[in-house]
Amino acid sequence: MTDLATLLEVGGPVAALGGGAAYTRANHPSLYWSAVGGPISTVRLLSSYASVMEACGLTVPPSRLRILAVKATTRREVRPVPPRRGIIRPTSTGLRLRLRLAPGQEPADVAASAERLRHAWGVHAVYVSTVKPGVVELRLVGFDVLRKVRMPRKIDGGFLQVPVALREDAMPFVRDYRAVPHQLTLGATLSGKSMYLRHLVSGLASQDVALVGVDCKRGVELAPFASRLSALATDPDEAAELLPVLVKEMEDRYDLIKARQGIAPNTPDEEITSDVWGLPESERPVPVVLFVDEVAELFLTVTRKDEERRDEMVTQLIRLAQLGRAAGIYLEVCGQRFGAELGKGATMLRAQLTGRVCHRVNDEASAKMALGDIAPEAVLAACAIPAERPGLAVAGDTSGGWSRIRTPCLSLGDAADICREAAHLVPDLPALKPFRPYVPVPLPSVERPGPAVQPRPLAD
Ligand SMILES: Nc1ncnc2c1ncn2[C@@H]1O[C@H](COP(=O)(O)OP(=O)(O)O)[C@@H](O)[C@H]1O
Ligand SMILES: [Mg+2]
Repeated sequence: MTDLATLLEVGGPVAALGGGAAYTRANHPSLYWSAVGGPISTVRLLSSYASVMEACGLTVPPSRLRILAVKATTRREVRPVPPRRGIIRPTSTGLRLRLRLAPGQEPADVAASAERLRHAWGVHAVYVSTVKPGVVELRLVGFDVLRKVRMPRKIDGGFLQVPVALREDAMPFVRDYRAVPHQLTLGATLSGKSMYLRHLVSGLASQDVALVGVDCKRGVELAPFASRLSALATDPDEAAELLPVLVKEMEDRYDLIKARQGIAPNTPDEEITSDVWGLPESERPVPVVLFVDEVAELFLTVTRKDEERRDEMVTQLIRLAQLGRAAGIYLEVCGQRFGAELGKGATMLRAQLTGRVCHRVNDEASAKMALGDIAPEAVLAACAIPAERPGLAVAGDTSGGWSRIRTPCLSLGDAADICREAAHLVPDLPALKPFRPYVPVPLPSVERPGPAVQPRPLAD
């Protein structure tokens, strides 16, 4: 009897602790990592560092001096030397540590062992990045941060930069319009493209930027942001009127820059500029970001007359993509596919869109349209995105690398609220005035009256 009591006394709390830990691990991985996973992995790392490095082939033979020193002072066996390790810095999602590479090693050697290191130290993933020549940083991620995305609290996003998603190594993925002026976002339907756009619109809403939307799905995705949009086209006819106005605006901006260059023959070199950013702030026109959701709707034609209009629109988009950057006009294009089958000019336009994000796609050809020029592995990674993880995407970056990213969840209503609160920030652009979308005045919420007669089940 006493045995049973002891068993209950000891076993009960242990079982509760185990159950609690398992629950926390599944539902609050960040908390579990800080309380349990992190300390365990740190101990594993500290205790096994030298042997793991040796097993991964990342050690070098000891120098002659070292051999002499070890032999003179101790009777220990002389071991190969692992890379010198910096201090371990814990973060809310993992650990970071720097390694000084031994002579003859390169960062790729460490990166090649990332998978082995992750198993040895019991973490979700290990990423390697170069800090400076000879020093690499190991970023250990404790759990799958893309399962339930929470953006880091401290992100320094500047002007025209929007931290739009989280990368698999727990770093924010920042959409920087000045570094990558135009971007193409591809993905099958329900893959999370509009969610991605939603984050960009709400991220830019608080900045001094003009937002222009072309949403040929009758505006269902972009119309909720009408209060912050400077212009909105909801069908190809409206788009055909809006695009030439944007091209004209771009040409006017070039004229402005040219006028500035010609002020006086003896203008100092540093005051001559070839883009709007060199203009003094008082004269600088506001940047314009053009969002195009479901781009194929602009390309598809039914009649011959439509075809002419389509060709014109494609030409205008190509011109905006080619020359827009210096005039502060940026394109953000979303679509399901973007191949030559869309018609004349489609591939040329695609080539102008530097940034690439590919959500889940239905076939490899679509992934190749987005990521084919970046890396074959990126195409495979995009093809492997499961349907039950909308918002997961593969993003190519400017250095030719790529990473998996996922946007946090943001409801259309919340994004629309953000835009409504920023409605006073819509910049004054006379050319776009005629295209300003109609913003319905929100009705005061009225309690819906209940039914006059309470229904009663028939068989009582
Ligand atoms: N990052 C995300 N996390 C969770 N759910 C998402 C995410 N991105 C999209 N979704 C969900 O997936 C569905 C489709 O997203 P949507 O952006 O409309 O796709 P698309 O525009 O590609 O058709 C929506 O119901 C949305 O709530
Ligand atoms: Mg969509």
